[in-house]
Amino acid sequence: MEKRIVGKEILKFSSLDSTNDHCRKIAGTSAIDEGTVVWADKQLMGRGQGSNTWESESGQNLTFSIVLYPRFLEASDQFYLSMVASLGLTDFLKEFMKNIYIKWPNDIYAGDRKIAGILIENSVMENRIDNSILGIGININQDSFPKYIPNPVSLKQITGYRAEPGECLEKICRYTDHWYAMLQKEEKTKIKNRYTKHLYGLDQLNRYRKGETIFKAYIRGVDNFGRLALEDDKGETRYFGLKEVEFLQNK
Ligand code: BTN
Repeated sequence: MEKRIVGKEILKFSSLDSTNDHCRKIAGTSAIDEGTVVWADKQLMGRGQGSNTWESESGQNLTFSIVLYPRFLEASDQFYLSMVASLGLTDFLKEFMKNIYIKWPNDIYAGDRKIAGILIENSVMENRIDNSILGIGININQDSFPKYIPNPVSLKQITGYRAEPGECLEKICRYTDHWYAMLQKEEKTKIKNRYTKHLYGLDQLNRYRKGETIFKAYIRGVDNFGRLALEDDKGETRYFGLKEVEFLQNK
């Protein structure tokens, strides 16, 4: 019997407002099993992190969400789901290119350009993750992007040839399933080590802004809560949560 969870079932839609919103409405009900993937050729209101939108040319790329029921996972460990999603994409992209990185917390970069984004929405019940929606947008065949999108790139722009989105999705699901199985087996150290190894800017000296202060620091990793560990030039390491610190490289 196949033990695979992620991608056991793939539901394809020609158009949805947002695959995350669609999943959120039905997650936790008998209408959708764990591991089901909801894939839309086109999103009318694709959402990015914060208040951003996610723009993707219809039929060219992949926009999908994976529904998980990680009820074994404590709420304080929810960043591991981010790591699982990031590693599934990283492993897939490394089939094509060596320089694949995770820009903390979970943007996927090919070299210095963003190729994929992740929007995770968790629902917590009695201190456990009742359901989690891993929303993923990855640029596959798009040839050009609107000017206002910072730093985008597609797989085709890297390899020079078109890839079949359905085949890419199948592979991403298999890689993600591998890392989700690791999480179920409590192999948290392996997950964190692999995530850390791929962090964009790891062990490099870069500039950061916290409020009004600009400082130089090295990225040393993340803690279990997903906070970024930054070591300053005096050797002191501090941990920063999302939105607490801004990366100033290339600015
Ligand atoms: C980011 O801002 O980098 C996160 C982008 C996440 C986009 C994906 S596309 C599929 C899923 N449905 C959404 O509405 N958003 C996510």
